[in-house]
Amino acid sequence: MSYLRVAPISSLTAEFSVPGDKSMSHRAAILGGLSNGICTIDNFLPSEDCVNTLHAMRLLGVKHEVLEERPEFGPTRLRIHGKSMALSTPDAPIDCGNSGTGMRLLAGLLAGQEFSSELFGDASLSSRPMGRVIDPLSLMGAKIIGAGIRPGCAPLQISPAKLTPIQYQMPMASAQVKSAILLAGLFASGKTSVTQPAETRDHTERMMAAFRVTTRREGQEISIYGGQVPEACDFRVPGDISSAAFWLVAAAAMPGSRLRIQDVGLNPTRTAILKVLSRMGARMLEIVDRSDGEPIGHIEIHGTSLRGTTILLEEVPNLIDEIPVIAVAAALAQGRTVIRNAKELRVKETDRITTVVNGLRAMGAEVEEFEDGMEIEGGKPLKAATIDSCGDHRIAMAFAIAGLFAKGETTIRHTDCINTSYPGFSHHLQAVIRQQTAPSAYHLPTIVRA
Ligand code: S3P
Repeated sequence: MSYLRVAPISSLTAEFSVPGDKSMSHRAAILGGLSNGICTIDNFLPSEDCVNTLHAMRLLGVKHEVLEERPEFGPTRLRIHGKSMALSTPDAPIDCGNSGTGMRLLAGLLAGQEFSSELFGDASLSSRPMGRVIDPLSLMGAKIIGAGIRPGCAPLQISPAKLTPIQYQMPMASAQVKSAILLAGLFASGKTSVTQPAETRDHTERMMAAFRVTTRREGQEISIYGGQVPEACDFRVPGDISSAAFWLVAAAAMPGSRLRIQDVGLNPTRTAILKVLSRMGARMLEIVDRSDGEPIGHIEIHGTSLRGTTILLEEVPNLIDEIPVIAVAAALAQGRTVIRNAKELRVKETDRITTVVNGLRAMGAEVEEFEDGMEIEGGKPLKAATIDSCGDHRIAMAFAIAGLFAKGETTIRHTDCINTSYPGFSHHLQAVIRQQTAPSAYHLPTIVRA
């Protein structure tokens, strides 16, 4: 069994760059594969989730060459040979592993093809709701069966279909669902529109623009005309702010710490974590260094004693992946933190409300669980515990960060899952604990001695 042992530290002074953005890497693999030529993708995230999407595209006839790779993990620089929208029949079912994003985006891509396909995943993914993409895609004429043990769940069996456009009002704020519909819309005749109930990450729209695919936005409605062929382009994926979030919390809550994260995506639909940490008292600077399609820059943060906060309704979709580590920050802060309207957390890689509440309680925090979130009375000292990630990467990493603040040595069990989003996390963690760099690790932080 894989595990991490975490010893407490007293301050963190470091410069980091984190691996490439997961959301953008999935989309780059897909749009590059649909494009009309050769695309070079830099700083691709070599995580299991994104490599599965790359393999999916290969099964659909898209060739790629690996120009650079991290031997332990996977490709970081790729040349993709786009198929000008003409995908080929896969000769095997497509494995999406643990990735909801991979499966939902690919369902949109495959819904309007002339061939049959099947998408499957691991036990966690096979229990996650796929009705949210099956329903709108079926309205477009797709023939998709959720053939899993649970109704509406993977494996997804997709039969050939001709798609017609829809105007769809999404019942939940989900970038995955929006993106599945926009990808399907590329293969439908006419104008497909999707309206989101709240702002969600807009990487699909931005990346489509980079590939010269026009989408139009009016209020919360995003529309696309079918029949556009993405124009091949080169794309550099910035660091993933959701991975940076773990270190941001560690530094923010540790008085005397100084952290700089460079080359990180600062798309405003992803930076609510920074607003929340500022409200909690963190002293920080967010600087956009360049903005070509996606804003990219650096974050500097100085540690202090945090105070509790209330997460706003409209912030929830913007920081849904960061809530586990925000809950850790809340346990370290003085006063009450309220995280509500976040029922979506229950259908992530694990039920992240229950896994976070149980983990925090095991470490001595005072937490109340609600159907749609939790309230945390912060400020009680954390004690070391053994925490099972339950196979959820963000749970494993959030509690590794909690371990940096706990009295005693914390053990996180089942940590292999971290490779689905943050290959190299354990190297970073060990470097932070030892306050030194090791030469072979992935994008190691520079530990700056105070
Ligand atoms: C993602 C969207 C989010 C997020 C996931 C990545 C994406 O999910 O949790 O990690 O790349 O579109 P939802 O949009 O379903 O909330």
